[in-house]
Amino acid sequence: MNQLFAAIGVGVCLSLLFLLLFLTYLRKLRRRLSEAKELTAIYERERDLAQQELVQRLERERRLEQEKLQFDLQLSDFEKYASLAQLALGAAHEINNPLLGIMSHLELELRSAEGEQKEEIEQCLEGVRRISSAIRGLMDYARPDPLTLSRVKLHSLTEHTLAFLAHQPLFSRLELRNCIPTDLPEIVADHNQVSQILTNLLLNAAQATPPGGSITVTAETARSGTAVELRVRDTGTGVPADILPHVFEPFFTTKRGTGTGLGLSITRNYVLRHGGDIQMQSVPGAGTTVRVTLPLRHALQPTPELEEVVA
Ligand SMILES: Nc1ncnc2c1ncn2[C@@H]1O[C@H](COP(=O)(O)OP(=O)(O)OP(=O)(O)O)[C@@H](O)[C@H]1O
Ligand SMILES: [Mg+2]
Repeated sequence: MNQLFAAIGVGVCLSLLFLLLFLTYLRKLRRRLSEAKELTAIYERERDLAQQELVQRLERERRLEQEKLQFDLQLSDFEKYASLAQLALGAAHEINNPLLGIMSHLELELRSAEGEQKEEIEQCLEGVRRISSAIRGLMDYARPDPLTLSRVKLHSLTEHTLAFLAHQPLFSRLELRNCIPTDLPEIVADHNQVSQILTNLLLNAAQATPPGGSITVTAETARSGTAVELRVRDTGTGVPADILPHVFEPFFTTKRGTGTGLGLSITRNYVLRHGGDIQMQSVPGAGTTVRVTLPLRHALQPTPELEEVVA
């Protein structure tokens, strides 16, 4: 009997031990399973991230490829334009020289001509002058003269420019105001080019402003005192919103038959060569303001001991 109890006891103990071992093994198995699940989740997350990155990279490569294609096309266009521009410049130069000869011959003829003949010669002269000024504009745009820097006083330059233009019929019935402070700091710039910038802007303003209107030139320091902002404001017709983005494009004009469309693009070229900036704001029917920012000193040639230029 005792033996039987002992055998049952051993059996129970062994079963309990076995159960304990089995439970421990089961717990380990569960832990490993949950670790494996966590790892799988991490791997899946990493795989998703890698896939996303791959898609982004492919997208980036596709965009770069497209940009490269566009750039190559632009480059070949630029090369074509550059050789065409070179050709056109050569032709313009060759056309301009005989034109000057024709002009002086016509001017001579005009002196002795009378009546109908005089009128015809005047018309020819007008045509030749327009061709010559268009060619000059084209040459200025494509190959502007190098900058000749000097000190420029914007108040007196504007005073002289307005006094010169005021005699022209286009300006005679407009109110012209020079509101530039006399103590505005001088700028170091190409006097001739700044004068052309102002003249082009004043001509455009006068052409857009009906008699009785006004043109005001103002200026103040800008860019924390390192530049000046020159503004030419008119009370003219203004520029429609769909035209505004095109006004600085070469040959863009709404003055068919009278304008070449080079005035503002040459002006912009001059401004950019000075390290400046030009913008146009306009309200159709109310007027236009052109803002030109010019640095006080030219970035490439800070020349403090320049001769003072009296405009
Ligand atoms: N102050 C302004 N008011 C209204 N429109 C303007 C003004 N300035 C420029 N524009 C518009 O911008 C266009 C381009 O001007 P831009 O000076 O380049 O050429 P243009 O005056 O037509 O010809 P060009 O100056 O060669 O005689 C003009 O045709 C005109 O439509
Ligand atoms: Mg113009």
